[in-house]
Amino acid sequence: PGADAIAAIRSGMTETPDFPSEGILFRDLSGLFADAAGLRTVASALVEGFGPIDAVAGVEARGFVLGAAAAVASGNGMLAVRKAGKLPGEVLNESYALEYGSASLEVHPSTLPQGARVVIVDDVLATGGTLTATIRLMERAGWDVVGVAVVLELVDLGGRAVVEAVTSAPVKALL
Ligand code: PRP
Repeated sequence: PGADAIAAIRSGMTETPDFPSEGILFRDLSGLFADAAGLRTVASALVEGFGPIDAVAGVEARGFVLGAAAAVASGNGMLAVRKAGKLPGEVLNESYALEYGSASLEVHPSTLPQGARVVIVDDVLATGGTLTATIRLMERAGWDVVGVAVVLELVDLGGRAVVEAVTSAPVKALL
């Protein structure tokens, strides 16, 4: 990414120790979301370089902000990947492990046409569980994941290898 995208992320990110529990350093991008120029720059950086795409998928909730901005920046619509229980009708569901317990994500398979080329966007890649479940959902729906992009990769948690094990699409982290 360009120096302007990196500068926008650094100035729009706060780091809070011991939140939401002891020993966790919480990174929050609310300042970036509220920075008009920074949000536009980062949104464009997230989607560039993947070739032609048909939609941007954003993962609830923080991925909605970046995903919608990236969709508009690239002239596409956004596919909302929802937390379980929010969508009516017949949905596809993928569960993933959390530190304690599990969570799941859902999409409606008729939202995009078969073969749609999708870039998945989220704020943070940590353990990789969220993105792995999202990739599986896209494949089950018949959509083609052509890229995965996050603002922040927490390298020590090893999530990249987990995600790269389920897709051959490039995984891009801006920071
Ligand atoms: C956070 C973050 C990513 C995910 C990364 O979401 O926004 O989606 O965790 O973690 P992982 O790589 O270990 O799966 P969270 O579930 O806190 O949801 P939120 O966006 O609604 O706050």
